[in-house]
Amino acid sequence: MTMRAATILIGACALLAGCGQKAEAPAAPAAAPEMTDAQKAALVATLPAPYNTADIENGKRKFGLCKSCHTIVPGGANLTGPNLHGVFGRKAGSLEGYNYSDAVKAAGFVWDGEHLDKWLAEPRTFLPGTKMTFAGLKDPKDRVDLIAYMKVESGYTAP
Ligand code: HEC
Repeated sequence: MTMRAATILIGACALLAGCGQKAEAPAAPAAAPEMTDAQKAALVATLPAPYNTADIENGKRKFGLCKSCHTIVPGGANLTGPNLHGVFGRKAGSLEGYNYSDAVKAAGFVWDGEHLDKWLAEPRTFLPGTKMTFAGLKDPKDRVDLIAYMKVESGYTAP
C-alpha cells in the first residue's frame, strides 16, 4: 500500500477512536430477544384503536386455536398452514415455499388488522375456496385480542 493510503487508514482509525476495541463488542444476537411483558404492553398501547386496549393474554389463549396449524416465531416451520411471523404487511398468499390455495393466492390484498378481522370471523366466507378449515372466531372482542397478540408476536412495526 502507498504511504498516503496508510496514513489515511491510520487517520480513520484514530477518528473512530477504537479500532482495537472492535473485536470486544458483543456479537449481534441471531434473533431479537423475547420481549418482556412490560415491553409487550407498551407496544399494545401504541397500536391503533381498538387494538390499543386489547387483552393480549386472552389473545394468546385464542392463538391456541391456531397453533395446531400455524407457528408465529421468526423462521418457524410451515405446518398445515403457513408460518405467520411478519404476516402484517405481507401480501396474502405470498410466503415463499408454502403451497396456498388459488383463493388465497388471488386475494390480492396485504394483511392488516381489518382483513384479518374479516378472515378470522369466517375464513371460508371471506375467501371462498380457501383450504383453511377453521370455522371462525365469532366474538369480535376475541378477534381484537387475538390480532393484537399476533401483532406483538409477529414482529409488527407501525407503518
Ligand atoms: C386446521 C388448520 C388451521 C387452523 C386451525 C388455522 N389455520 Fe390459518 N391457515 C391454514 C391453512 C391451510 C392456510 C392456507 C389457506 C389457503 O391457502 O387457502 C391458512 C392461512 C392463514 C392465513 C393467511 C396467511 C398468508 O400468508 O396469506 C392467516 C393469516 C391465518 N391462516 C391465520 C390463522 C389464525 C390466526 C388462526 C387461529 C385463529 C388460524 N389461521 C387457524 C390452516 C389453519
